[in-house]
Amino acid sequence: MRIVVASSEAVPFSKTGGLADVASALPKALSLMGHDVSIFVPHYPQVHARNSTAPPLDDIGVTLRVGVGQKTVEARVLKSSLPDARVTVYLIDQPGYFDRPGLYVENDQDYRDNCERFVFFSRAVIDAIERLHLAPQIIHANDWQTGLIPALVAAEMRQIAGYEQQATVFTIHNMAFQGRFWHWDMNLTRLDWKYFNWRQMEFFGHLNLLKTGISFADMITTVSPTYAREIQTPEYGYGLHGALTARKDDLVGILNGVDTEIWNPATDPHIAQKYSADDLDGKAVCKAAIQKQLGLPVRADVPLFGSISRMTSQKGFSLIGQCADVLLDQDVQLIFLGSGDPRYEALMSQLAADHPDRVSTTIGYNEPLSHQIEAGCDVFLMPSEFEPCGLNQMYSLIYGTVPIVRAVGGLADSVIDASDINRINGTANGFTFTDFRGDALFWNISRARSLFADKAAWRRLQLNGMRRDWSWKRSAAEYVRIYERAIAARRRDSECEGEEK
Ligand code: ADP
Ligand code: GLC
Repeated sequence: MRIVVASSEAVPFSKTGGLADVASALPKALSLMGHDVSIFVPHYPQVHARNSTAPPLDDIGVTLRVGVGQKTVEARVLKSSLPDARVTVYLIDQPGYFDRPGLYVENDQDYRDNCERFVFFSRAVIDAIERLHLAPQIIHANDWQTGLIPALVAAEMRQIAGYEQQATVFTIHNMAFQGRFWHWDMNLTRLDWKYFNWRQMEFFGHLNLLKTGISFADMITTVSPTYAREIQTPEYGYGLHGALTARKDDLVGILNGVDTEIWNPATDPHIAQKYSADDLDGKAVCKAAIQKQLGLPVRADVPLFGSISRMTSQKGFSLIGQCADVLLDQDVQLIFLGSGDPRYEALMSQLAADHPDRVSTTIGYNEPLSHQIEAGCDVFLMPSEFEPCGLNQMYSLIYGTVPIVRAVGGLADSVIDASDINRINGTANGFTFTDFRGDALFWNISRARSLFADKAAWRRLQLNGMRRDWSWKRSAAEYVRIYERAIAARRRDSECEGEEK
């Protein structure tokens, strides 16, 4: 199958969160299954320059002229590939839109022209597919930044000879980010205003690009089965639960996998000593190394808790704040790595300043350190308010770092609570709770501390997590089934349209 994946970020070219991991790991897994996959991402020169592992880019001599509102904007197409994979990456180079320090935000403020930037990118992807004669059977768009693509395919691309049956899939990675803009931005899309209605692109008077993707795609996926159910409720649907329920027969949740070439303690080049489920000795070395590196007392007996995350309310930092006092009365160590909301950055930094022998906080983005924390910690904290999938709890499971999570979205689908000894001897791999409250988090931290003292039970929990297959293999096969459904649905629709004529 020929597949084009469009995303606003993909590792190793650019990354602000899990979307970037998925946008390259899924294509890699699909290509290993024999599919022909290419990825489209914007080229962010400043981000690329800061990244020592960024692959080289070739100018293939193609200039696009992309219509955005009244303007025609020129862009170059650069070509590269994923390291160690047969996946072509096309980077849309338009310095006016993308040569900036951030991807979407600078100094905590969204770029004011974000709508224009990603309307442009969505149109550029469609134009490039035609120019490069890629003729994909599937165009797979992700999140609001490429939400316009399914609409462009439906309204324009299918009028072009050869693309009449072009099928689309749209994946939602986070309902909290919808790409909502004022109604006049509809003009930027160059689509007819007839689409600006409550069933398609309009949402309470605004243009909504996530809703656009949901409305026009042949199939919709999200990144875990539980989140697929949750987003059809008012609590998690962020206003779009109605739009999702209307398409519930075409909405499927597929749990993300992990790129085990990048996240594997047996091969990880960043960690102090490699280890595996068969020989966990290296994990103790990694623990001592990270304690030393971050200035915490080097002690094997104290439970070491870690967190690597965007510091936002989604990730449950308020719960850590609520239980910090009682928690830090105990004999524990905590490591925080992340950045985001200044409120939470300040709170985590203050905890470290007040308890230098118990807490280490690193504000910023640091890839090697994130691997070292995964390898060195005993427990990983992820008390999210909502979590479409979550990748770090799966990285933790692979690294024998037992996660404590709130049982929502993909966390509920990957972490099995150690509620009793049978489960510990069976499939349990972590601790889960439901109430979004600091005392519920604290209670689970206490449960983890007491089980940590029981070395044999703890080892079982670690191994239960480490021995399960978290790779993309199974999920990629599920995506192929969704692609086939999208192609079949399109064929049926165009036959019906043919009969009507
Ligand atoms: P989200 O996409 O909602 O932020 P995920 O758990 O899906 O959450 O993915 C987050 C990804 O970003 C993981 O790969 C995680 O390791 C990485 N990450 C987040 N913050 C940092 C940081 N400060 N330094 C390094 N990696 C980070
Ligand atoms: C989003 C979600 C996260 C998910 C990631 C990749 O950023 O917040 O839960 O793992 O996308 O799908």
